[in-house]
Amino acid sequence: MKFQVHLYVYSTSIGVHNCGGSIIDDLYILTAAHCIENDMGITAIEIRVSEHSQAAGGDHVSYSAAGILPNPYYNSETSVNDNGVILLHNAIDFTEPGVAPVCLPAVGQTWSNGDQTMVSGWGLTESGGSSTPDILQVVNISFVDSTTCGSDYGYYEHEITSDMFCAYDQGAGTDSCQGDSGGPLAIYNSATGRWEQAGIVSWGIGCGFNGFPGVYSDVTQMLWWVNAIADYFSNHGDCLNSFQKSVLFSVQEQKLIQLLFNCLNSALKAVI
Ligand code: ARG
Repeated sequence: MKFQVHLYVYSTSIGVHNCGGSIIDDLYILTAAHCIENDMGITAIEIRVSEHSQAAGGDHVSYSAAGILPNPYYNSETSVNDNGVILLHNAIDFTEPGVAPVCLPAVGQTWSNGDQTMVSGWGLTESGGSSTPDILQVVNISFVDSTTCGSDYGYYEHEITSDMFCAYDQGAGTDSCQGDSGGPLAIYNSATGRWEQAGIVSWGIGCGFNGFPGVYSDVTQMLWWVNAIADYFSNHGDCLNSFQKSVLFSVQEQKLIQLLFNCLNSALKAVI
């Protein structure tokens, strides 16, 4: 899983915790907004790439953050817009073995119920468990759209909004869990012939509970934002080169992009 990232977050408000992420470009990591906080400071995060065993210690390369950009519209009450980008201090070297940027779907890409997904991370292997696995875990579960998930499952008090989707494995209890957040859910796109990151591990009620599939932040709903950030610098790896760039932004989106760039600039000034 060359695009998988392991985040160690050392924050006074959220404590030390594990999260996942994915490499979207040599300078950018995609994760969940709830894994990062605007004010937590760039030294609070250790970004590990090419990790397989967390105990072995020697198989990863650590990077530090130069900027932390949770989606400004993230709402911790509703989990809406649970996505964010970490800007790295030093660019990842894609000539190194074991690292590569994830492929992102094209703008407008949709998925179908039942599509096979691949979710990965070092999160708990049991609901409410206490220890995380040493080796990166991968599960194959099925895509469920937000409408079906909202109406057919037990989420009556937790809205599954259109920027989310679910994934589950009926009866098998296979799911992502605490510690997997921010990590990638990929779907094989037969039209492009590649695995593309469709979602970000976001939340759920317990893990693997019948009727409560894991909920993911929908990457296709935030591509304009990721795209804009990644376009700011243009040292893309292979996947981003084939990524659609001619997106027309709405006025509201343009304002948000401006806001993010201001924030990015001040983050950069702070480290240079
Ligand atoms: N919020 C969790 C985290 O911080 C992820 C929970 C995913 N839950 C699930 N049942 N799939 O790691």
